[in-house]
Amino acid sequence: MSETAILFENVHAVADAQLLAAGLKVERHGAALPVEDLHAALGQARVAGIRSRTKMNKAAFDAAPDLAVLGCFCIGTNQVDLETAAERGIPVFNGPFGNTRSVAELTLASIIMLMRGIPHRAGAALRGEWRKTAEHSHEVRSKKLGIVGYGNIGSQLSVLASGLGMHVYYYDIEPKLAHGNARSVATLDELLGLCDVITLHVPDTPQTRNMMGAAEIAKMKPGSYLINHARGNLVDIDALANALESGHLFGTAVDVFPKEPASKDEAFVSPLQQFENVILTPHIGGSTLEAQAAIGEDVSLKLARFLQQGSTKGAVNVPELEPGPVPEGRARVVSFHGNAPGYLSRLTDVVSSCGANIASQRLETRGDFGYVIADLEGDLPANLVERVKALDGSIRVRLIGG
Ligand code: NAI
Repeated sequence: MSETAILFENVHAVADAQLLAAGLKVERHGAALPVEDLHAALGQARVAGIRSRTKMNKAAFDAAPDLAVLGCFCIGTNQVDLETAAERGIPVFNGPFGNTRSVAELTLASIIMLMRGIPHRAGAALRGEWRKTAEHSHEVRSKKLGIVGYGNIGSQLSVLASGLGMHVYYYDIEPKLAHGNARSVATLDELLGLCDVITLHVPDTPQTRNMMGAAEIAKMKPGSYLINHARGNLVDIDALANALESGHLFGTAVDVFPKEPASKDEAFVSPLQQFENVILTPHIGGSTLEAQAAIGEDVSLKLARFLQQGSTKGAVNVPELEPGPVPEGRARVVSFHGNAPGYLSRLTDVVSSCGANIASQRLETRGDFGYVIADLEGDLPANLVERVKALDGSIRVRLIGG
């Protein structure tokens, strides 16, 4: 079996260290490859690392018979056929929190820029106009910030905004621990009517889709600002444009759109382009070199832990187990299998028929799949893995250590 980690799409160089330490050779490709080249490269891969442009569909998995684990060095995993990966016992990892800070910082910067009216003054200056006035120009200190979704990004922003002297309020559907002096409010409507700036940090779900429509925007304070750095479907863009047109809102910052260009060759068109006090950015809220490095470290560590320990903690498609390092003097059998009665007893029978002892055993299931990790003591026969592989229900089996 090849022991190569193949990294596509310029994954951050920081990823190499963990993979090398796990005993792999690292091969890199600077871009997403055309399908044929991708499939040829995957034929050599024990580990693959991709970002959002490499499509790992069924054909790609077919082309990768030795692939043990896949790392998505990004947030989303839509580009991967997760079901096929799970059926083949291939865990898929991503880096969901690497860019939290980057989004929070951009949002904070946008709050300051919007409240100072910088976008329209800076735009005018580029055209040779000198708009030197304090009209609609405010400090953010002591203004009310309303955060919708107090998760990783929302709560990080809360800390940064409090540091600038803003009064922070938040609305979340789950109970969340308030940071500093931030206060939760009971309803979205309450938040909308209370705050000078509303910023969205919720996922795209059936409940959040179009959560800021005409009716909700009308409930915002006159002269306030709306920021969407989360997902494009949360805001009715036409309703937002109407609110800017009427002067109900003084400005907006939007990084994510209902329809985004698929590549730099496609034109970006939005009804918000006609307004001056707006900050429109091309979905780069999380795009910083620091975020890429953080994701590189996070995902490569998860890949290495899976190879060296069998840990699936943080995997998005298979049962999660975090067994820690293999104890001295033991060997570890890890097995993905179909979640059906009887598998564990068959595994135990095989191990004891070999004269080995199961010193510890962990099992987790998720839907149709199970994952078991058994630490063994005693002399193990050379064909142990083959015998476990042959068990009814086994999908993928590996021996670590021993
Ligand atoms: P998270 O999962 O840590 O936090 C989301 C919060 O929203 C949770 O506390 C959840 O309870 C809350 N929530 C869910 N439904 C809600 C509802 N209907 N009303 C109120 N609260 C609700 O997520 P994280 O990491 O903070 O990300 C937030 C958003 O930012 C996501 O949509 C994510 O996709 C987006 N994002 C955008 C990036 C960009 O490049 N612009 C980069 C990274 C994340």
